[in-house]
Amino acid sequence: MGRTSKDKRDIFYRLAKEQGWRARSAFKLLQADETFCLLEGLTRAVDLCAAPGSWSQVLAKRIYEPLEPSDRQNVKIIAVDLQGMAPIEGVTQLRADISKESTAETIIEFFAGEKAQIVVSDGAPDSTGMHEFDCYVQSELILSALSIATYVLETGGSFVAKIYRADKISRVYTQLKRFFKDVCVFKPSASRNSSIEAFVVARQFCLPEGYKPCNLTSEWHDHPKSSWVARLNADPPIVHVPFVAYNGDLDSDRTYDLDENYVYKEAVQQPLTAAYQEVLKKTGEVNLKYKSIKVVHDQELYMDWCKVAPEDAISKQEGFQIAETKNKAS
Ligand SMILES: C[S@@+](CC[C@H](N)C(=O)[O-])C[C@H]1O[C@@H](n2cnc3c(N)ncnc32)[C@H](O)[C@@H]1O
Repeated sequence: MGRTSKDKRDIFYRLAKEQGWRARSAFKLLQADETFCLLEGLTRAVDLCAAPGSWSQVLAKRIYEPLEPSDRQNVKIIAVDLQGMAPIEGVTQLRADISKESTAETIIEFFAGEKAQIVVSDGAPDSTGMHEFDCYVQSELILSALSIATYVLETGGSFVAKIYRADKISRVYTQLKRFFKDVCVFKPSASRNSSIEAFVVARQFCLPEGYKPCNLTSEWHDHPKSSWVARLNADPPIVHVPFVAYNGDLDSDRTYDLDENYVYKEAVQQPLTAAYQEVLKKTGEVNLKYKSIKVVHDQELYMDWCKVAPEDAISKQEGFQIAETKNKAS
């Protein structure tokens, strides 16, 4: 398969590169904004699970860039992720785990007494391929994002988060309904029909009476019966929320031919700490131990990795070869 193949199979991937977005996910937030008018006139936003940063780019473009330079100092956008990401003008970065209490505290400090008007989260765990487990971890991430929202969101604010439409997802709707007057599920056309991914768009935030913001995930684990989560899940246990689909011209499940003016473009921003580097390192070690195994995911990336491989990784591999040879000889 040539390098243009993905450009044909994924129109939003191609457009993202052409329009300068770091990831095709940008279109998901753009389509949500177009449908619900979420970002108009805002100055304070939180982007959770933000790397490589295309949602932060959208926030900067819609919130920060339209302002006169003198008004830009009032804008507060914070992007949080476990991974580092390249800088974006107008966006402050925090490398942290959204499930940690300390992360919420740092975000609160960042707003210095003010509150955010929107919290967005495109968080996704590393997929294990075990559907039930992946969905469970995803729902934990939503709960972490919701916990942070309960600390930092102003009354009337909005919350957008990625969900997996799977078994038990109605629990998430129920929980969200306790905090937001208006909750719906949104499916952007940039999200494949074949994918269980969708987004909750929750608006008109209002803390329930007597509710004290806390880390809902740890509360739930430590006190499963008496926690707020248990109370949030109870009575009525299931709520129904509207489903809204983005009605666009482009279909992410379709293949589009490349027209005659097509010019191949590289990705806008390579990830700073790509998860695949760890995989390539391990693959390299396995290759040496069991010589018949040869898995090269991408020749160019593999060569790049070899160039920057730490000295000790290489000597460890040589050590392996020597040990194996010695064993055979004796
Ligand atoms: C689909 S990507 C986000 C893409 C991003 N919205 C964009 O537009 O570029 C999911 C991100 O979730 C992050 N993530 C997963 N679990 C996290 C956690 N517990 N805390 C912070 N970030 C997390 C991953 O590091 C990954 O960068």
